[in-house]
Amino acid sequence: MVDQPAKKISLLQIGRLTPRTEARLREKFAVACLREQADKETFLAGEGARFRAVVTSGGEKVSADLISALPALQVIGTRGVGYDHIDLVAAKDRGIAVSNTPDVLTDCVADLAFGALIAVARRLAAADRFVRRGDWLKGGYPLATRVSGKRLGIVGFGRIGQAVARRASGFAMEVRYHSLRTSPDAAAGYVASLPTLATWADFLVVCVPGGETTRHLISAAVLEALGPKGYLVNVARGSVVDEEALVRALEQGKIAGAALDVFQCEPRVPAALTGRDNVVLLPHIASSTRETFAAMEDLLFDNLCSFFATGRLLTPVNR
Ligand code: 8YV
Repeated sequence: MVDQPAKKISLLQIGRLTPRTEARLREKFAVACLREQADKETFLAGEGARFRAVVTSGGEKVSADLISALPALQVIGTRGVGYDHIDLVAAKDRGIAVSNTPDVLTDCVADLAFGALIAVARRLAAADRFVRRGDWLKGGYPLATRVSGKRLGIVGFGRIGQAVARRASGFAMEVRYHSLRTSPDAAAGYVASLPTLATWADFLVVCVPGGETTRHLISAAVLEALGPKGYLVNVARGSVVDEEALVRALEQGKIAGAALDVFQCEPRVPAALTGRDNVVLLPHIASSTRETFAAMEDLLFDNLCSFFATGRLLTPVNR
């Protein structure tokens, strides 16, 4: 008798991954891409029952509706550490396992946070525009703000917040943090009140996870506390900052500037921000290096393989 080749497990991909990972997935699984379907609802109604796995790239939502359209779903994997785009309650109700890709992106996100901090303080992006416009021929560039030796406040002291703190030591900065948990062995000091931290800090870097519990944590009051010489850096989620309050604070000179990698309604950025030189605006690229995307996608792939081989994820989020 001839052995039949094992039937591939059906996997629904939503959002784009790098070509290398898409090829690896197609080799191992029977992959369908939701974004390629002209009529997603009809596709899900007809085909939804066969999918046992979902992969998402992070920007794409895995909603309760999508989960209920996939009755055989067992596992969801996302590229990235954040999982606020996945309805974890709906997943848990159905016993669906969810994995993310922590650790492997920490250094790149912290690098970008520090780069954005320097960029906004030293007005690097505006200086680049100044040179390109030919304005240097007309005169020198205005003085900016020093970074070394200043006070760095970190909001959220998990893996990424701590990596930002490590970078700050090379700039002789004093570091304090506000977080749900204290880190007893950290060189940085814990501050129980966020407005108190903001008042103290020259730079406030936001590194908390997104989701309902951190929504608008950076409020008008926190920005007011940061003050007219203070800078905000956000590499977390747009939802963490009250964007309208931020625009008002910038317009009224209540803070000195902001470096933002994330926004409330990405990829839309408020016009009130795009016209300003005291903000640095980035298209959600904190983890976007070839090396880190490869590492995140390898971990995403390995999570799926581990789940179907052993029933266990390597990096589960709904522990
Ligand atoms: C990426 C991120 O934007 O890890 C996260 O939570 O926001 C970033 O790494 C994205 O998720 C990668 O697809």
